[in-house]
Formats: sequence, structure tokens, C-alpha cells
Amino acid sequence: MRRMRTLAGRRAVVTGAAGALGRVIVAQLQAEGAAVAGLDLNADALAAVTPGLGEAVDLTDFDAVQRSVGRVVEKWGGVDILVNGAGGGAVSWFHEMTYDTWTTQVDRNLTTVFNVTRAVLPSMLEQRHGRIINIASVAAIGGGRLVRGATAYAAAKAGVVGLTKALAIEVAERGVTVNCIAPGAQATPGRDRDTPERREALLDQIPTRLLGEPGHLAQTIAFLAGPAAVNITGVILPLDGGHSI
Ligand SMILES: NC(=O)c1ccc[n+]([C@@H]2O[C@H](COP(=O)([O-])OP(=O)(O)OC[C@H]3O[C@@H](n4cnc5c(N)ncnc54)[C@H](O)[C@@H]3O)[C@@H](O)[C@H]2O)c1
Repeated sequence: MRRMRTLAGRRAVVTGAAGALGRVIVAQLQAEGAAVAGLDLNADALAAVTPGLGEAVDLTDFDAVQRSVGRVVEKWGGVDILVNGAGGGAVSWFHEMTYDTWTTQVDRNLTTVFNVTRAVLPSMLEQRHGRIINIASVAAIGGGRLVRGATAYAAAKAGVVGLTKALAIEVAERGVTVNCIAPGAQATPGRDRDTPERREALLDQIPTRLLGEPGHLAQTIAFLAGPAAVNITGVILPLDGGHSI
């Protein structure tokens, strides 16, 4: 059977492209026909994922992001798809948390989404077409015991959820959709470090007893970026085996 290239001719920016999920997302969008520019701090890994089209940049730096995205927009004449995937958590008990840990987590998981979306959106509004897909976390919408020690991360990801809904309304009549995936624990290479006890405890939290497959997450993102999702906006979609129920 021939592969459906539903994103042929589309131009995508993926942040966190060098990460465990980011590189799978990039490969999926490319397989469906999109040109992909990756943005990530990790220049070496990025060069392997999106050769010639990557921008190594600290996404917490507003001015640097405007310059990087500006170069991509200038090269392509616009951007059709933005996947805000950069982020990551750190464990810190709230009663011991430093101001630095708090601001670092909020900057990494929420301010990055503002900086990149702010840079990409004008070109989407101008062309009256755009798909923005944010990656939050089950931590933002539930997930209970699994996210103990993750208050700053959970708060920042909940900010991404709020941003998604508010922006979806703001741009709905201008051809741009804004949606959000809330993944539960994914079967990324980092999980290989889990002890059998930790793995059991994790699976006990997930009704399906399945970790998320990065390939499934990437396919869901490609769906939200594709033609069948034209009338889907403001959705917060948990990919978590029922964890957040
Ligand atoms: N892996 C999971 O189980 C899981 C579950 C829920 C949500 N998520 C979310 O999915 C996203 C991707 O997760 P992952 O597992 O691929 O993590 P990862 O650590 O493998 O990748 C994250 C990438 O983001 C980049 N990044 C972080 N801060 C940056 C900054 N300031 N500027 C530029 N790049 C920056 C890193 O360099 C890295 O390449 C994250 O937002 C994470 O919070 C992951």
C-alpha cells in the first residue's frame, strides 16, 4: 500500500527536535511529506536530526528565538506547523524549592512556548493557515502520585494548557488551530533506567498498564497537523492510558 503523504508541501518547526520524543516527531512529519526545521539547545544532536535546517538556540531567550525563527520564515516564506515539544521536568519538593528551580522550570516549559509561538504566529495569521501543537503532560491535568515533587513542572505545563485554549479562541477565525497533547509516561530510552519496582509502580498508575509509544504520539501530532483535523481546536488530548481519569 502506498504511504499517505498528508503533509506534502507543509513547512514545520519542531522545538526540542533533538530530544527523545522530538526526533520521532521530526521523522514522522518528514515521512508524511513535511519539510522540518528543528530548534534545540543541543547543536550536535540537532545537526543529525534536521541537517541543514536546524537552529541551535536557547528557547528561553526571546530575542534569540525571534532571530532563529525569522531566518526560517525568511527561507520558507512562512510556517504551516509548529510543534512546541521542548521542555522537561526536575524533581524538587515544594517546601524546599528554590526560586531558581521554580523559574527554570517555568521558563523551560512555558516561556519557551510563548517565545516560539510569538515568533511563528504572525506568518501563520498572514497566510491564514497554521497548526500549533503543544506538548504538555499528564502532570498538568492529573496523574496524582506519579508527579510527586513536580509542582513547578505541573504548574508550567498547566500554563501550556491555558495558553492553548486561550490562543485557540483568539485565532480560530483566522485559519490557525491550537491543540495540546498531554502525554503520560512514554517508553523513551530514559525509562530503561527504571528499576523493576519503579516500573511496576508506574504501571499500577496506568489503567491500560501500557507506557506511551513515541511513534503513536508522533502519529497523533501528524494527524493534528493534517487535513482531517481542520476543525479541531483548543483540545487537550491525554495520551496516557487513562492515567489522568
Ligand atoms: N518522555 C515522557 O515520558 C514525557 C511525558 C510527558 C510529557 N513529556 C514532554 O514531552 C516533551 C519532550 O520530552 P522528551 O522525553 O523528548 O525529553 P528530552 O529531554 O529527551 O527532550 C527535550 C528536548 O528539549 C530541549 N530543550 C530543553 N530546554 C530547552 C531550551 N531552553 N532551549 C532549547 N531546547 C531545549 C532539550 O535540549 C532536549 O533535546 C517535553 O516537553 C516533556 O516535558 C515527556
